[in-house]
Amino acid sequence: MRKRALITGITGQDGSYLSELLLKKGYQVYGLQRHTSYPNTYRIDHLINNPKFPNFLTAYGDLSDSSSISAIIEKCEPDEIYNLGALSHVGVSFSMPEYTADITGLGALRILEAIRQLKAPIKYYQAGSSEMFGKVEKDSFQNENTPFNPQSPYGLAKVFAFHTTKIYRNSYGMFAANGILFNHESPRRGISFVTRKITLGLSRVKLGMQDTLMLGNLNSSRDWGYAKDYVEGIFKILQYKDAEDFVLATGETHSVREFAQIAAKQLGIDLQWKGTGIREKGINRKNGKTVIEIDPIHFRPSEVDYLLGDARKARKVLGWKPKTSFNELVEIMVKNDYDLVRKETRPGHKIEVRHRFY
Ligand code: NAP
Ligand code: GDD
Repeated sequence: MRKRALITGITGQDGSYLSELLLKKGYQVYGLQRHTSYPNTYRIDHLINNPKFPNFLTAYGDLSDSSSISAIIEKCEPDEIYNLGALSHVGVSFSMPEYTADITGLGALRILEAIRQLKAPIKYYQAGSSEMFGKVEKDSFQNENTPFNPQSPYGLAKVFAFHTTKIYRNSYGMFAANGILFNHESPRRGISFVTRKITLGLSRVKLGMQDTLMLGNLNSSRDWGYAKDYVEGIFKILQYKDAEDFVLATGETHSVREFAQIAAKQLGIDLQWKGTGIREKGINRKNGKTVIEIDPIHFRPSEVDYLLGDARKARKVLGWKPKTSFNELVEIMVKNDYDLVRKETRPGHKIEVRHRFY
């Protein structure tokens, strides 16, 4: 009998890659899709109503709505639920703290409670985040034993979901596991996250469609991996014999400035940094033009300055390790966005990638 998986956040970056992985493994894949006034299914359009993927179906539901969650679980009878749905933008979570707590935090509880009430033997995956570690000591590694110290409504909501998952596991013997994933990116990354903003923005600069890219904190460091590698880890977490919690990370950290420098280099722009603080600028060494500037609007009320993961447990227990290097990741994203923006330069191919906030 075909295994059945239900994915929340099916229209997101990870939801789309995980769907492809599970379909390849022969799963029946169901997605809980929230209703929007205009479909935002571009990451999964190649799977929907495609005769090549008869085992892919989505249904409307919302993480704020217990009845829709229960109804979908009852209807799909999944063996596994991957809860990837969230308000996932840390900066935006400061503007919408209550909504973030509701969707990113309580959403997990609603699913776990639905599983408990149904008394169904469903395995549950919770999409935890390195943002839960929050403020950590510079040069330290974070692993499954590192205490949480969240710095944002998003981080706080994820800590709630993490502990709720553990409580349901310990109290009711449910198979409920947490992944604690460090940043992972791809050409499908939302355009308001810094990596994609950089690869799109610099591609536009290169092609003369934009003069300057406005960024926030250039000093912030992240452990950036490739989303396609990470969904394999997510899958392995639920296939392990016991429900446990696992960090997935690359073990390397790079600053936002470094990401921009490498992306620019791959586009043939040699960036030179001048000035300090909010007056720092990235200048094109060749023509003296300012390519990157700082706009404090992108600063957060409280920042996580530094993250670096220690994924030795996942490596040892699950046999998972990332396959894509930092440079390869930047290259994949730059190539994708350069090609995308190049299409904009042709008549009739205008795509809108501008955005003011974040
Ligand atoms: P993403 O691209 O932002 O996707 C989030 C998904 O959640 C989207 O499908 C979104 O739907 C859905 N969603 C939002 N509000 C919802 C609601 N009220 N009801 C149902 N669904 C809702 O995020 P991602 O990068 O794929 O990340 C997947 C998960 O992993 C998230 O929980 C994120 O917090 C977590 N995570 C991500 C990273 C990372 O670096 N990417 C690292 C650690 C943890 P729409 O498409 O309609 O907006
Ligand atoms: N978004 C954004 N936009 N971030 C900027 C900018 C900018 O213009 N300029 C600098 N940054 C800095 C942010 O302040 C942050 O320190 C860093 O770049 C990364 O920001 P994001 O790309 O927005 O990601 P994030 O680390 O805050 O959150 C992502 O990773 C988490 C895992 O640690 C999200 O995917 C979360 O959902 C995920 O849990």
